[in-house]
Amino acid sequence: MTKHIRLFNRISFFYGWFFRAQKKHYLNRVIPKLPFVLKGLKIIDLGAGTGALSSAMKEKGADVLMVDGSEKMLAIAKKKQGKDALPYRIADVLHDPLDDLASVDVVISAYMAHGLVTKDRFKLYETMKRLSQKYIVFYEHRKTNNLFIKFIEYLEGGDYFNYVVVAEKELREYFGHLHVIPVSKRSTLYVIENNFKV
Ligand SMILES: C[S@@+](CC[C@H](N)C(=O)[O-])C[C@H]1O[C@@H](n2cnc3c(N)ncnc32)[C@H](O)[C@@H]1O
Repeated sequence: MTKHIRLFNRISFFYGWFFRAQKKHYLNRVIPKLPFVLKGLKIIDLGAGTGALSSAMKEKGADVLMVDGSEKMLAIAKKKQGKDALPYRIADVLHDPLDDLASVDVVISAYMAHGLVTKDRFKLYETMKRLSQKYIVFYEHRKTNNLFIKFIEYLEGGDYFNYVVVAEKELREYFGHLHVIPVSKRSTLYVIENNFKV
C-alpha cells in the first residue's frame, strides 16, 4: 500500500464531510463542461475516493465503477451513496494494472494524479489509456495563490507543486493531444480523445 493510500485511509472520515459540496460542484460546474454526454456511457473513476464525482456521473445517467486503493474512502462512498451505492473495487492502481477489467467508454481521475511522483503518473496514464475506448479525463488543480490549498498540498506531500506547472505539457506529450478546459480559478479539466488520429 502506498503512503498516499495510507494517508487517505486516515483522513477518510473528514474527507467525507465535503461529499455534498463536492457532488454539487461536480454536477453544476464540472460535468456541464465535459465535451460529451454522460448518459449511457460506461465509466471507470480511478481514485474515486468518497465517490462524489462517481455519484454525480451516475445521476447524469452513466454506468460507473469506482476504483480506489483506500478501503476506508470507499466505505464512506458506500455510506454516502446509500441505496444507490455504486460498484467498487479496492485496488492500488500502481501495483494492480487492472488487467482483468474490460475497457470502457471513459476513464476519469479527479485530484489523484498530482499526488503521484512522475514515474507513477506515467503508470496511471498507461492504465487509463489501456482501459479507455473513447475518452480519458483528468480533473486537477491548476496553479493558484490560494494559501489554504498550498498548505493542504504541502501536508499531503505529493507532487502538487511540480504537477500544476508541468501537467499540461506532460499530458500533451504523453497522449499526443489534449483539450484543456478551465473550470474555476483553481481547477482544470484535461480531456483526451483516446485513439485520436491527426
Ligand atoms: C484527493 S483524493 C480524490 C478523491 C476523489 N476523486 C475526489 O474527487 O474527491 C485521491 C484519491 O486517490 C486515491 N489513491 C491515491 N493513490 C492511489 C493508488 N495508487 N491507487 C488507487 N487509489 C489511489 C486515494 O486513496 C484517494 O481516495
